[in-house]
Amino acid sequence: MRPITISQGILLLATVSSTATIDREEVVRQFNPRRNATSEESPMQVGNGNFAFGADITGLQSVLPWNILSTWCWHNSSLPQTPGQTSPADYTGVQWWTHDRLVTYAQPNPEEDEISQWLIRNPHRVNMGRIGLLFDGSGITEADLADTSQYLDMWNGILHSNFSIEGAAVSVQTVVDPRSDTVAVQLQSELVGQGRLSVFFDYPYMTGENKFETFVGLWNATSNHATSLHTFRQRAEIKHDLDATTYYTTIVWEEPAAISRISNSSHKYILEPADSNVFTFTATYTPNPLRVSNSSSTFSAVADSSTTWWNDYWTAGAFVDLTAVENPPESLALQGRILLSQYLLAVNGASANPPQESGLTNNGWYGKFHLEMYLWHGVHWAVWNRWKCLRRSLDTLYQRFLPTSFERAADQGYTGARWGKMSDPAGRSAPGEINSLLIWQQPHPLYFAELEYQASLDGTLEEEPNEILDKWDDILTATADFMSSYAFFNSSTDVYDLGPPMYPVSENTPPNSTMNAIFESAYWRFGLSIASAWKSRQDKPIPSEWTTVLNNLAPLPVQDGTYVVCEGVQDPWSTDSLTEDHPGAVGIYGLLPPSDDIPLDMAILDATLAAIDSTWNFTASFGWDFPMLAMNAARMGRPQEAVDWLLDPGFQFDDVGMPIGGARVPTPYFPASAGLLWAVGMLAGGWYSDEGSTLEDRWPSGWQVHVEDFGKSL
Ligand SMILES: *[C@@H]1O[C@H](CO)[C@@H](O)[C@H](O)[C@H]1NC(C)=O
Ligand SMILES: *[C@@H]1O[C@H](CO)[C@@H](O)[C@H](O)[C@H]1NC(C)=O
Ligand SMILES: *[C@@H]1O[C@H](CO)[C@@H](O)[C@H](O)[C@H]1NC(C)=O
Ligand SMILES: *[C@@H]1O[C@H](CO)[C@@H](O)[C@H](O)[C@H]1NC(C)=O
Ligand SMILES: *[C@@H]1O[C@H](CO)[C@@H](O)[C@H](O)[C@H]1NC(C)=O
Ligand SMILES: *[C@@H]1O[C@H](CO)[C@@H](O)[C@H](O)[C@H]1NC(C)=O
Ligand SMILES: *[C@@H]1O[C@H](CO)[C@@H](O)[C@H](O)[C@H]1NC(C)=O
Ligand SMILES: *[C@@H]1O[C@H](CO)[C@@H](O)[C@H](O)[C@H]1NC(C)=O
Ligand SMILES: *[C@@H]1O[C@H](CO)[C@@H](O)[C@H](O)[C@H]1NC(C)=O
Repeated sequence: MRPITISQGILLLATVSSTATIDREEVVRQFNPRRNATSEESPMQVGNGNFAFGADITGLQSVLPWNILSTWCWHNSSLPQTPGQTSPADYTGVQWWTHDRLVTYAQPNPEEDEISQWLIRNPHRVNMGRIGLLFDGSGITEADLADTSQYLDMWNGILHSNFSIEGAAVSVQTVVDPRSDTVAVQLQSELVGQGRLSVFFDYPYMTGENKFETFVGLWNATSNHATSLHTFRQRAEIKHDLDATTYYTTIVWEEPAAISRISNSSHKYILEPADSNVFTFTATYTPNPLRVSNSSSTFSAVADSSTTWWNDYWTAGAFVDLTAVENPPESLALQGRILLSQYLLAVNGASANPPQESGLTNNGWYGKFHLEMYLWHGVHWAVWNRWKCLRRSLDTLYQRFLPTSFERAADQGYTGARWGKMSDPAGRSAPGEINSLLIWQQPHPLYFAELEYQASLDGTLEEEPNEILDKWDDILTATADFMSSYAFFNSSTDVYDLGPPMYPVSENTPPNSTMNAIFESAYWRFGLSIASAWKSRQDKPIPSEWTTVLNNLAPLPVQDGTYVVCEGVQDPWSTDSLTEDHPGAVGIYGLLPPSDDIPLDMAILDATLAAIDSTWNFTASFGWDFPMLAMNAARMGRPQEAVDWLLDPGFQFDDVGMPIGGARVPTPYFPASAGLLWAVGMLAGGWYSDEGSTLEDRWPSGWQVHVEDFGKSL
């Protein structure tokens, strides 16, 4: 009953608040990013969520080797040679006491250091190459360029770059195909017709030496890998072999040109146009040779597909317009970061795998993704009614990782499926102390499933609610089975404890003495509550273990009238290490919805927020902390605070919208962008339990806000 009443409320609200349809194109175009110099901090990007091309001021990678990254191309370094450590099967992990029994955790084992390190660093994601311009056969530097001017046309997904060399104008357009991993380029200049401007393709070697790599790969290890060229009229294929990894670049051009290898001691190829002032080519990256029938795409065909896809992206789904002249000036800053985030998340964070925190811009954590961050990367798509982008990964991810997650739980003596953490596409979780002891990724499938279920009830999704219930049932069962089996019955207190050992969201307490952490205690309740409802909705029995654990979990940890990071913690509000990092306590009301199964005391919550406010080191906060604080403020009915958090000086985006990592993590850190959109989505679309709240209630007074087509948050 309840959701139906609420969705009627939404419809009414939407009609009231969008009496005039927003001219979305007009709003988007105002915020197209512009540059007149290469940035060494971040590229301009074009991409399709699965593949992205990072460009310097030339629209290519002439001056700086920004990356060409995909979610599918990975490389392994050779395995260690030390006897007993020559294969992943030789790695055994370490055993820690866990409630009077030894449990094996995937952590680096000092006795097996080489294979432990290998498993952390491999596979790592491949930078598939570099495409740039040569002038009279030589490389270009920024100093060779004048009259530089670049803008990204977000409405069509096309990057426009103008500059001049020796007084002659050059114009470059760069665009990526939404349906294949193809970058298409148009060059326009009399220098092209004169044969003075040519294009190079180059290929780096990969190592797992750097956990974070802004410019990915080694360009001078040419003897470690091989490339070869095959040409066929207006088409060439470059095969790149790096150890066991092989992939192909298929280059197709329209005007007369010739391609050749520059020298056998490098992996650099030169494509030299002749006769025409306009030259266009496409480069498609694939794991297997591309059939001829698939390699006929032209620049104009790719530009058309891009235009169609991006127009649809901006037109369908939700939109918020904050540009009314009555609004305070900071509304434009917020609008800008919203639109740039929308663009960059579609480029960097919408493939069959969860995004890496640095997306497809550079390699963070060797390019591996983190399952606890998937909630941040994923939920905003649902709230903004862009389910297609979310479902590229959500439809298959948990099914795909289910077998290894069953194994992980079974090896540790638990039932159900224990989801991994820092993963590669095969689902192996990299060894690590935090990696193996973090637990807040566990309830995520329940969060996503509930969002889908609610969206099927209000008709946002095409599927019937029963189909959604059916689709998720085995995953949710496996998830909740682990959650109840993980909770330990403490016979001296007669309650179920979470941990030790465990790491909470804040990763700043000693794992062997951390138990009943605040966010996890609330999230376990949320999860088991949804899992139980799932069974009831299907008229299936609720496993009694779930009910027993849900009803007997240790109480949320409280000290001196405040919710604290975990049970028994000493001096939580006056210890520096405990008053920085992610403030998990604000997540229990905001990120998590209120629920009968999460017994919150609002006076304690208020006191907790006051304690955070007065003690927290926000200088060390980063990424999703600010959206999480905003979501809490929104649910507390404090819209001005919510917006203030989203505009906090510690929550920065650069000139092209890249989320700045800040004191703790490198740039870009996309959970910040994704969190921003989720929080804005809450303010714009509301949430299921806020019956009767209006748009005006959720935004600061005096703001004129126009919204269209938002879904609700839980
Ligand atoms: C380049 O852009 C910066 C910042 O937008 C501006 O201050 C500067 O005047 C521009 N330079 C040129 C040569 O256009
Ligand atoms: C890397 O090695 C692992 C373990 O042997 C294997 O499962 C995976 O397929 C390899 N990946 C690549 C890209 O070679
Ligand atoms: C936790 O306890 C295990 C023994 O069960 C020990 O090996 C490990 O070093 C301890 N970890 C920390 C961080 O103290
Ligand atoms: C590049 O130059 C063309 C022709 O003068 C102009 O139409 C276009 O707007 C310019 N683009 C940029 C990015 O400045
Ligand atoms: C290769 O390049 C890296 C930097 O990318 C540098 O540190 C290293 O010394 C170079 N090696 C050789 C053999 O030139
Ligand atoms: C590169 O090697 C191939 C065969 O190994 C040879 O035919 C070709 O002449 C060499 N090219 C250059 C530029 O040295
Ligand atoms: C190849 O072409 C077919 C038919 O046009 C298309 O369905 C498929 O997606 C293409 N594959 C790639 C890699 O572009
Ligand atoms: C039971 O709970 C108490 C109080 O939280 C704790 O000190 C004790 O270590 C727990 N017992 C076990 C066996 O974990
Ligand atoms: C707060 O965090 C910043 C950034 O990490 C750090 O430099 C500073 O020392 C911290 N302040 C305190 C009181 O811990």
